[in-house]
Amino acid sequence: MMKRIAKPIAFIAGLAALLGVSIAQAEEIVIKFSHVVADSTPKGQGALMFQKLVKERLGDKVRVEVYPNSSLYGDGKEMEALLLGDVQMLAPSLAKFDKYNEAVQIFDLPFLFDNLAAVDRFQASESGQALLSSMEDKGIIGLGYWHNGMKQLSANKPLHEPKDARGLKFRVQASNVLEEQFKQVRAVPRKMSFAEVYQGLQTGVVNGAENPWSNIYSQKFYEVQDYITESDHGVLDYMLITNAKFWNGLPDDVRNELNAILAEVTTEVNDQARAINERDKQNIIKAGTSEIIQLTPQQRSEWREAMRPVWKKFEGQIGADLIEAAEKSNSAT
Ligand code: LMR
Repeated sequence: MMKRIAKPIAFIAGLAALLGVSIAQAEEIVIKFSHVVADSTPKGQGALMFQKLVKERLGDKVRVEVYPNSSLYGDGKEMEALLLGDVQMLAPSLAKFDKYNEAVQIFDLPFLFDNLAAVDRFQASESGQALLSSMEDKGIIGLGYWHNGMKQLSANKPLHEPKDARGLKFRVQASNVLEEQFKQVRAVPRKMSFAEVYQGLQTGVVNGAENPWSNIYSQKFYEVQDYITESDHGVLDYMLITNAKFWNGLPDDVRNELNAILAEVTTEVNDQARAINERDKQNIIKAGTSEIIQLTPQQRSEWREAMRPVWKKFEGQIGADLIEAAEKSNSAT
């Protein structure tokens, strides 16, 4: 039996040697990139652009397979799959890292960043960049930050003031900070995976949610939410991550080219994210199924004050210095 399989292997090795390629080189590297959102969103577009550029530039060596919309793993399972080597790349929202580094919770603090420009400055800063490499001992390498956008509150009743949210059940991502944020306005947070949100809203398991426009539109949440308050109360961004063992084991030339491609894709995603969210906001307005509520400056500051105690509650886990650094990113200088 041994002999029967030994021969073909020797033959293939001999043939490969003749052709000047080692068996190791001839093996295609497969990068499975799994995510939970639609292709039309900033993350969905980024994954597809990465796939396209890798095909153009490394097509003989690397193949990227993209699995959108929780089609391979939902957000509850994707991190485990990455650590087990079942997928090689993910871009989970920054709300989904608290098990690996509590400091990443900074991004969930309500009303911390005034806008995406401030988020950009913080992510590019020394503190922001340090978070990317902070989980390598846990087997996770951060390759960059991708924007989605600022979050809006949606519900089955109009939300103008914090008291309007009282008693409403809000879906939250698996984040203790976001859970606390809704508790502060005396609402009832429910952790729920992204793939379950539409049905949860439709059946009344939850009454409201928080999402950037691109997710509200592409998942059709606007069909089951009569009101959307343009609150910009927090950010939903991503950390593009890979399995450290996989990444460090790549041939240097391949890793370098992938890094160059990712730098290009990251710039593009972050340039396009605002336009995609604006486009989807307009699409929702056009659909006419939800009323868009604008907050007065007074109402916005009431929401800010109501949610602000969350900062203090998580200061110990996140770090006062980091919060201060993030707050500074609100001014351009
Ligand atoms: C969510 O669970 O709401 C988001 O993290 C989904 C996503 O990846 O944008």
